[in-house]
Amino acid sequence: MVTEASTRPHVRLAREADLATVHRIETESFADDPWSLGMLTETLHSADSVMIVAADSHEVLGYAAVLAAKGAGEADVLTIAVDARARGRGVGRTLLVALATEAQARGAKLLFLEVRESNATARSLYRSEGFEHVGVRPKYYPAGDDGQREDAVMMRLDLHHWCETKKESA
Ligand SMILES: CC(C)(COP(=O)(O)OP(=O)(O)OC[C@H]1O[C@@H](n2cnc3c(N)ncnc32)[C@H](O)[C@@H]1OP(=O)(O)O)[C@@H](O)C(=O)NCCC(=O)NCCS
Repeated sequence: MVTEASTRPHVRLAREADLATVHRIETESFADDPWSLGMLTETLHSADSVMIVAADSHEVLGYAAVLAAKGAGEADVLTIAVDARARGRGVGRTLLVALATEAQARGAKLLFLEVRESNATARSLYRSEGFEHVGVRPKYYPAGDDGQREDAVMMRLDLHHWCETKKESA
């Protein structure tokens, strides 16, 4: 019998066997500029990055990766996406919190990311976790169906402050 506990999503390190599903979610989520399977594989095996997945007892629901070279003091969210069927249930936030925790464990003080200006859902998630707007990279993203390149909003999280806030609200 499938119990609620066995189906609650948990986060773990990604494995080679997850990559086919990760690649499917990536392709469905970023139709204009998805990472190839090769790029995902390289990230999985890089000593400078960490890739995680959120999975229930049946399948991978989402994934995320952070570039956090030891000693760099800064980290970058490389990618984060949740299967469209599993969105709006807290999986994205769980992945983001796990990434920030991993970046901090590797000594990062600041966590950066870029997000499409039009991506209101992701920007809302990042703002609510404490990321601040620090700039814009004009025409950063390749053109989509409308033929226009899109600006990236650059955001930054102070990991020490984030961690203190988490402890206070726990
Ligand atoms: C962005 C994404 C990862 C969020 O994952 P998710 O599992 O749906 O998000 P959660 O359920 O954890 O929600 C976290 C927050 O996101 C925001 N959010 C989620 N769904 C939203 C929606 N439909 N509209 C507006 N904000 C939304 C809210 O701030 C929400 O917090 P709340 O539940 O306290 O209101 C997911 O929408 C996704 O995979 N999108 C496609 C890929 C992508 O854009 N990745 C980001 C690239 S920078």
